[in-house]
Amino acid sequence: MTYRKTFILAVLLILIAVFFAACSAPEATSAPASTATPTSTVVATMGQGQHQGHGMGQQHGTGQGMGGPPEGMRERHSAPIPVEYQGKSNPVPTDEESLARGEKIYAQQCATCHGDGGMGDGPAGQNLDPAPAPIAHTSQMLGDSYLFWRISEGGAQFNTAMIPYKSILSEQDIWDVINYTRALGSGQVQPRKNMGGQAMNPEAEAQMHADMLTAGVDQDVITRAEADLFAEVHDKLDAYKTAHMDELRSFMGNPEEMQKATLDALVKAGEITQDQADAFTDIHDRLMKSGIMQ
Ligand code: HEC
Repeated sequence: MTYRKTFILAVLLILIAVFFAACSAPEATSAPASTATPTSTVVATMGQGQHQGHGMGQQHGTGQGMGGPPEGMRERHSAPIPVEYQGKSNPVPTDEESLARGEKIYAQQCATCHGDGGMGDGPAGQNLDPAPAPIAHTSQMLGDSYLFWRISEGGAQFNTAMIPYKSILSEQDIWDVINYTRALGSGQVQPRKNMGGQAMNPEAEAQMHADMLTAGVDQDVITRAEADLFAEVHDKLDAYKTAHMDELRSFMGNPEEMQKATLDALVKAGEITQDQADAFTDIHDRLMKSGIMQ
């Protein structure tokens, strides 16, 4: 019975992978302004929900029911990156000069929509649908090539108001503003105060995190002791990531690898034991599987 289920799931996954490979071929790049590119159909197989006003892949509902109700943002995050942007990696170190340049560009070009703190709540973004992304937050998880692509090409492919910057900003400008956005989200820099909008709020984040762990305990997914261990290791992980952003850069866009690398580094530094690292990973997996953590 379980074997049967596993087998069907495996076959499904292989089918999706094959379809994905077939469709993410070069033509995905040929029509960035169109809403009906092959790209859209690929995304549709990842589980297209009822989306109005997007024109994305309504013709394909094959993947429905997989992975829960997808948000527009989640679809964009899992959209295939056009070939000419694939493998792009940030050559500009996050030093003071880059952050200063990035801050200026951000204040002039981005804050009006994305907000001073990068949380997607600038004045010009209030009436946009979809709303500006909370890029201080999402840029922590997204890879260089994704961010460079999205800033270069904007939202035409997805029918959003995100502006294409490739003829406005130089490549270096784009990397500087990516460095700045990530630094906003990690707390390495403080937001300017021109346009308004919230900063990433560490206290609110911490509270949300605590609530998530309490829900895990209430639903018998984890024990109270596991919740405490998780919180303790998580704080150390966060501190390590903030202090070693540049070292961890190659793991951007791959949160699982990033977590593994960070845990390994903490064990090496003697901050946690290997047992604690293993327990953390196990608790993390259970929370993810139960849907309590996303
Ligand atoms: C006119 C308003 C507007 C301006 C100005 C703007 N953006 Fe956006 N941006 C959006 C909207 C709306 C979205 C969400 C829809 C999307 O992803 O296409 C978005 C999405 C993004 C994303 C994708 C994030 C994700 O999580 O997928 C990035 C990165 C981004 N913007 C960076 C920038 C940067 C950097 C600037 C300045 C150089 C900028 N934006 C200026 C409206 C804007």
